[in-house]
Amino acid sequence: MKGNLKNNKKNGNIYIPLNGRIEEIIQLTSDVRLFKAKTEIPIDYKPGQFFMISVWGSGEIPISVTSLPEKNGMPELCIRKTGVVTTAIHSLQTGQFVGLRGPYGNGFPMDISKGRDVVIVAGGIGIAPLRPLIQQFIKKPNETGKVTLLYGSRTPDEIIFRDEVEDWKKSGITVVLTVDKGNDNWNGNIGLVTGFWPEVRTNFKNAVAYICGPEVMIKAAMRDLFFLGMPDDRIITTLESHMKCGVGKCGHCYAGPKYICTDGPVFSYKEIKEQSILK
Ligand SMILES: Cc1cc2nc3c(=O)[nH]c(=O)nc-3n(C[C@H](O)[C@H](O)[C@H](O)COP(=O)(O)OP(=O)(O)OC[C@H]3O[C@@H](n4cnc5c(N)ncnc54)[C@H](O)[C@@H]3O)c2cc1C
Ligand code: FES
Repeated sequence: MKGNLKNNKKNGNIYIPLNGRIEEIIQLTSDVRLFKAKTEIPIDYKPGQFFMISVWGSGEIPISVTSLPEKNGMPELCIRKTGVVTTAIHSLQTGQFVGLRGPYGNGFPMDISKGRDVVIVAGGIGIAPLRPLIQQFIKKPNETGKVTLLYGSRTPDEIIFRDEVEDWKKSGITVVLTVDKGNDNWNGNIGLVTGFWPEVRTNFKNAVAYICGPEVMIKAAMRDLFFLGMPDDRIITTLESHMKCGVGKCGHCYAGPKYICTDGPVFSYKEIKEQSILK
């Protein structure tokens, strides 16, 4: 079994969650909230990993970490309200608790970005797992070359972390925002993220890409980047699937010969092609 379980064993049992007290809730868009949860003990984790988050009486779901680990042990979780458990989480107030098991999964490979230009491609809520990567690149600007974020949303009102995007730009990240459908106040780009490769001024052959978003966007972005010359082992994405256990026991997240929860959720395009992980 892979994944970092050492921080999570409560009474020696990986299925018993830690308590996470919700310290702060920030409404990011009409259906997306950021939760800052203080855990009983500080938990270490890395970009690309996820927690199994539970609400008593509603269920348990996988949610990516959307912040870098802090000494005070407050992982940030960016959650879109889509169904039963996410609605239950959205109904919680500060001072109430969620359960957290994890962190699980492999996380993003960071070594391959050392000294290279980085292209980050995000669609919708896909920005959530990519945000700690952006924070990491801003924190250690000398470790990478030029960092470009291509970020697509359905409408201008659905751009998540809109205020932070301005800070990212000030910190040296080149940001290309686009929406599927504009409004009267929008004079920016309109169209799919994959229509904006010419805005990414980099030598794709030497760069590395990190992608997250709807499956159709991930597939198109991986294919385009490969045809633009990026090696398939440097095109990295994180995948979603239905999960129950999160620790390689139940088989709910099976994709090709892999478990998304323990072998992933982060895979390279090379692995995805060679092992038929995405249909
Ligand atoms: C590794 C991983 C990381 C994730 N990170 C985040 C995150 O950071 N923020 C976030 O908002 N969401 C994230 N998700 C998706 C999140 O887990 C689902 O939205 C959640 O499980 C839906 O639960 P629900 O009970 O609210 O919805 P349900 O009532 O179960 O279903 C509502 C709808 O969502 C679909 N759905 C349910 N579970 C999933 C799933 N696991 N993946 C895709 N669609 C699903 C259902 O088919 C249905 O259409 C992640 C998923 C994975 C696997
Ligand atoms: S979620 Fe149970 S095996 Fe992956």
